[in-house]
Amino acid sequence: MEKNRHSFSSSLGFVLAAAGSAVGLGNIWRFPYLAAKDGGGLFLVIYLILAVTFGFTLLTTEIAIGRKTRQSPLTAYGELKKGWGGLGIMACIVPMMIMPYYCVIGGWVLKYAVDFMTGDWIKTAADGYFTSFITSDAEPVIYGVIFLAVTCAIIYRGVNKGIEAFSRILMPVLLFLIIGICVFSLTLTHEEGGVVRTGMQGLKLFVIPRLSGMSASDFLVVLMDAMGQLFYSLSIAMGIMVAYGSYVKDDANLMKSINQIEIFDTGVAVLAGVMIIPAVFVFMGEEGMSASGPGLMFISIPKVFQAMGPAGHIIGILFFVMVLFAALTSSMSILEAIVSSFMDQFGVSREKATVIEFFIALFFELLVCLGYNKLYFEFPLPNGVKAQVLDIMDYVSNNILMPIVSIATCILVGWVLKPEFIVDEVTKNGSKFGRKRLFIIMIKYIAPVMLLILFLQSFGVFNFLK
Ligand code: PHE
Repeated sequence: MEKNRHSFSSSLGFVLAAAGSAVGLGNIWRFPYLAAKDGGGLFLVIYLILAVTFGFTLLTTEIAIGRKTRQSPLTAYGELKKGWGGLGIMACIVPMMIMPYYCVIGGWVLKYAVDFMTGDWIKTAADGYFTSFITSDAEPVIYGVIFLAVTCAIIYRGVNKGIEAFSRILMPVLLFLIIGICVFSLTLTHEEGGVVRTGMQGLKLFVIPRLSGMSASDFLVVLMDAMGQLFYSLSIAMGIMVAYGSYVKDDANLMKSINQIEIFDTGVAVLAGVMIIPAVFVFMGEEGMSASGPGLMFISIPKVFQAMGPAGHIIGILFFVMVLFAALTSSMSILEAIVSSFMDQFGVSREKATVIEFFIALFFELLVCLGYNKLYFEFPLPNGVKAQVLDIMDYVSNNILMPIVSIATCILVGWVLKPEFIVDEVTKNGSKFGRKRLFIIMIKYIAPVMLLILFLQSFGVFNFLK
């Protein structure tokens, strides 16, 4: 099987594919909101510091595990060390849980893109439009299934003709679109009740650090938010980077690629802030920025487009196409983690593995959609959210399984195999391992402790500090 394994044709192909995974809905709807909430520039500085230490350590570890073992997430951990196969099972369950609801959200983005492209876009800004759409019977299912089917069709084509070929087109277009919308956003001005608000004022809210009135516990919140965001944003702890790493050639310079992936992901997150915060500020004021998640993307942003007048139609099309591409390259990577696992574990073909996962994801996707209508219930989660199916799947994967997978990976690499194992893999072709000492300290001590704090805080253990 080893001999037939595909590989990315070049480092650029790998970087674009991995960046495609990393750049997703989290960059666009979560990063800008957290930055605005958590002291603007302060959040940015902390995020950047964490990216080059914590993010770099975990990303390097997963990619190196993939390249070293040439195995999928499901089979790689057991291959590294006898008795650690359970970690592989968990690292494979995470993408299987995420896939169905990610496709449902991808379907929502598709629906909005279609609304804007067909010219029927004003309705998206109406109160209650989003809720009535996601609670309806057929539409969310249809769009979600189309999104899933497109993702499957790409993965079915394989690593080179699928993942790599599509990332090479979608990622540059995405970058181009986001930069264009940023320029537009910064030049906006709007007058309301005699007050003129400009895009540049909005930008200041995003980049200038606001430290006044910040207590130690507020600072902890900023730190935790930045760490949780980084973790999600780099697509770590769900087997994806192991799967992609397994397709990287032995002579590739891993460190260089990892730096480029991080710069791409962080760059797009910052650009998303430059795009969204000024626009929302100009048309909705500071209060408008308190929405996050689906509320920001599907409720506030359409209102901003409406307020822009005819220009909003064009910008709206560009925006939702851009988000669609970001979501698609991420869903491709989630599916690849699963498909490669089925292939390596059960020896089935890529085509068969893709079709099997299509039906599994389809079943759970229907469940997620039904969660908003026939199966509606409210389940109180430890973090205070009144959850239905989508929120529960998101909570279990992101807040419980992902931290466990990464803590266990740190223990396996830092203490059982020893960090030199990763260093050797990275440097085996003569490439340099920059920040080596930092890596060793991070993987052994700092990362597992930080991850444990993050894990405990998702149950509110440190709330007493507030
Ligand atoms: N990293 C992606 C983002 O920032 C999210 C993602 C989640 C990607 C799960 C793949 C799998 O939005």
